[in-house]
Amino acid sequence: MIKANPNFSKIQASYLFSDIAQRVKKYMEANPDAKLIRLGIGDVTKALPKPCVDAMAAATAEMGVDATFRGYGPDHGYAFLREAIAEHDFKARGADIDASEIFVSDGAKCDTGNFQELFSNDIKIAVPDPVYPVYVDTNVMAGRTGASVDGRYEGLVYLNSTKENNFVPALPEEKVDLIYLCFPNNPTGAVATREQLQAWVDYAHANNALILFDAAYVAFIRDESIPHSIYELPGAKEVAVEFRSYSKTAGFTGTRCGYSVVPKECRVFDENGNKIMLQPMWARRMSTKFNGVAYPVQRAAEAVYTPEGKAATKALIDGYLENAKIIREALIEKGYKPTGGDNSPYIWFNTGKDSWEFFDYLLNNAQIVTTPGAGFGKCGNGYIRISAFNSKENVLEAVERLKKVL
Ligand code: MLT
Repeated sequence: MIKANPNFSKIQASYLFSDIAQRVKKYMEANPDAKLIRLGIGDVTKALPKPCVDAMAAATAEMGVDATFRGYGPDHGYAFLREAIAEHDFKARGADIDASEIFVSDGAKCDTGNFQELFSNDIKIAVPDPVYPVYVDTNVMAGRTGASVDGRYEGLVYLNSTKENNFVPALPEEKVDLIYLCFPNNPTGAVATREQLQAWVDYAHANNALILFDAAYVAFIRDESIPHSIYELPGAKEVAVEFRSYSKTAGFTGTRCGYSVVPKECRVFDENGNKIMLQPMWARRMSTKFNGVAYPVQRAAEAVYTPEGKAATKALIDGYLENAKIIREALIEKGYKPTGGDNSPYIWFNTGKDSWEFFDYLLNNAQIVTTPGAGFGKCGNGYIRISAFNSKENVLEAVERLKKVL
């Protein structure tokens, strides 16, 4: 008898964004003429930067000629991309990361979801609440939790991110082994200061723990005092893995490219407390289960680091940040107290009502798709996340509609 993985019965039937898509589909079937404005899932809307498109086209042309054709690429990414990443994303900010510590992948969602395979099933895991659901769901699927009781899985330690702590959770009182952090944060848009991140790095050292640091939204940081990478902090290389993505940085949500950083010093422990280096484990996992990102896509990602690529991606992000400011100011005008939207594409605000009800209210009355905060965890109850990923024209229209119905 083929038996199903019993852990799947613990998990919510569908992924948050699939759930929202279903609701929107139903609404559109009933209201086919509605002019919907989508500010829900963080999917980019603007075209790829021209330097990336040009690099992708040139690489595609190479693939059409025997002399320059390439088959399987190097397991962990082409050297040209890994070297550009180490140089521009890390060394340029004083973080001593080498190309050999970079693992190119098809995005941060897969990497943050897959990384838990390297850990024992009896570890204690801390996740922020609200949280990007991938961190939780993948651990539920792997059997590291009990049942969901009142919106929280037994066995996980939830780190409350609330307005009282500016959505940067405090260190746990109990000892945990694995900590998921995401800054700039999805969904709250909060950023963590150097001191706050240093406290987590110190906690990980003191408790033999590991931090999985999701920096998918790093390109939105405009406050230069905010660390861009956890490796800007002393001691982080031993205790943290970092995930990056070109999805939001350069509009690659449909193109697929990201990377994880596993420093050679990064360690876990065996059951006797002996150190095991994590990098060879991730290298082995990737070689076994992944065959690399398409050559033209890696060339497109490399183009992000040229002077033209840097200017184009900055302009792209500046555009989304301008949208975020427009949304933020409209909410403030209506008496809300939003967070995020300044170093992040997400604006997070307390509606004072049930999140899903408010989501339906905005869909039905303003034809605007948002994301209900409750979908990210218990602490998201009452909140709505609005994304700035759309054209300025649509954002201006959305704001007009919001002002009428709020
Ligand atoms: C989101 O809206 O939270 C993100 O788009 C999800 C993702 O990047 O997978």
